Amino acid sequence: MSYLRMQDLQLSGMRVLIREDFNVPVEAGEVTSDQRIVAALPGISLALEQEAAVLLMSHLGRPAEGEADPRYSLAPVAACLARHLGREVRLETNWLDGVTVEPGEVVLCENVRFNRGEKGNDEALARQIARLCDIFVMDAFGSAHRAHASTEGVARHAPVACAGPLLAGELEALDRALRDPTRPLLAIVGGAKVSTKLSVLEALLERTDQLIVGGGIANTFIAATGHEVGKSLYEPDLIAEAQQLIRLAHRMGGDIPIPKDLLVAKKLDPDAEAHVRYLDEVQPDEIILDIGPLTAADYAEMVWGAGTVLWNGPVGVFEYRYFGGGTRAVAEAIAKSRAYSIAGGGDTLAAIDRFGVAGGVNYISTGGGAFLEYVEGKTLPAVAVLERRAVEYAT
Ligand code: 3PG
Repeated sequence: MSYLRMQDLQLSGMRVLIREDFNVPVEAGEVTSDQRIVAALPGISLALEQEAAVLLMSHLGRPAEGEADPRYSLAPVAACLARHLGREVRLETNWLDGVTVEPGEVVLCENVRFNRGEKGNDEALARQIARLCDIFVMDAFGSAHRAHASTEGVARHAPVACAGPLLAGELEALDRALRDPTRPLLAIVGGAKVSTKLSVLEALLERTDQLIVGGGIANTFIAATGHEVGKSLYEPDLIAEAQQLIRLAHRMGGDIPIPKDLLVAKKLDPDAEAHVRYLDEVQPDEIILDIGPLTAADYAEMVWGAGTVLWNGPVGVFEYRYFGGGTRAVAEAIAKSRAYSIAGGGDTLAAIDRFGVAGGVNYISTGGGAFLEYVEGKTLPAVAVLERRAVEYAT
């Protein structure tokens, strides 16, 4: 993959516009998880060290386009970023027609999704954003799957467009896990629905040596193999697809393991009591909320035998008091294993935090949807444009 890198450019005195992914959780005006902000610091510091005039932009949430809804203001992000940088971060609400930024100054442009035409990648809007800078840096890996005016459009029109250190680091780590992995390559994919991850499951079956499914996805596989799932979350409409995936795994000489045992509850409640059930013991009035201890031990063993582990999605409702054991076992096995491990997705990051295993995971991706699309082998439009621009730059 070849694109210009921010590290290789002369930034001094330039107006450097960095697209960040500051789409972080905010409660009562405070950022509650700053992982994405911390991950963006190297790129911002690189620009500041060279006395560039630094303009940052990001989206936050999914506001109705064209409306400056204060619930989606980046003000809490500006405050959090200022604390990390130890300097003022000015939040600019009207920035499209031009912003004055001095060398060494940091300005954060208010939510790009307040601009009409952002998501439609409007040409005029993209050109207007591009006029704000001498160098555009795409450093929002989490938004690289979006062809929006502030991700793809601006990169087409900016005088120079390059990748920031976060984006480049993410792509390198994922390439290491996907293109030339140390085998066996194990993928663990959890989450609520097969329907949202069907294509990623198909792609992973082709690429991996072993696939483990968890959460609501696993429930659909349990039902697809003719077992009772009681009142558990599952997708009856996706049973045929799940059966198809199991056949595909068999044709490739592998398997998608079905849990031997499970933890169930009678109701969906954070303090619900847990009961252990063998696979065939689940009752019609029970809800599967985690894998059981035998299955957790099996999965941990698979992790220990792996050369590379790719993890997206918890295997149980780990937020509930008695149903975190399966996800904890997987997280700890990954942290202790010698495999090169890479984890991505909001829930996965929350689980890593909860079980305190961040130090044992080789690479923690800031991407959710972007992570999955890249793993699936899809082209990320905001990366593809950087590659095209690099070819132009060289000729
Ligand atoms: C994410 O959180 O996955 C990214 O910030 C993308 O957000 P979006 O799905 O609203 O485009």
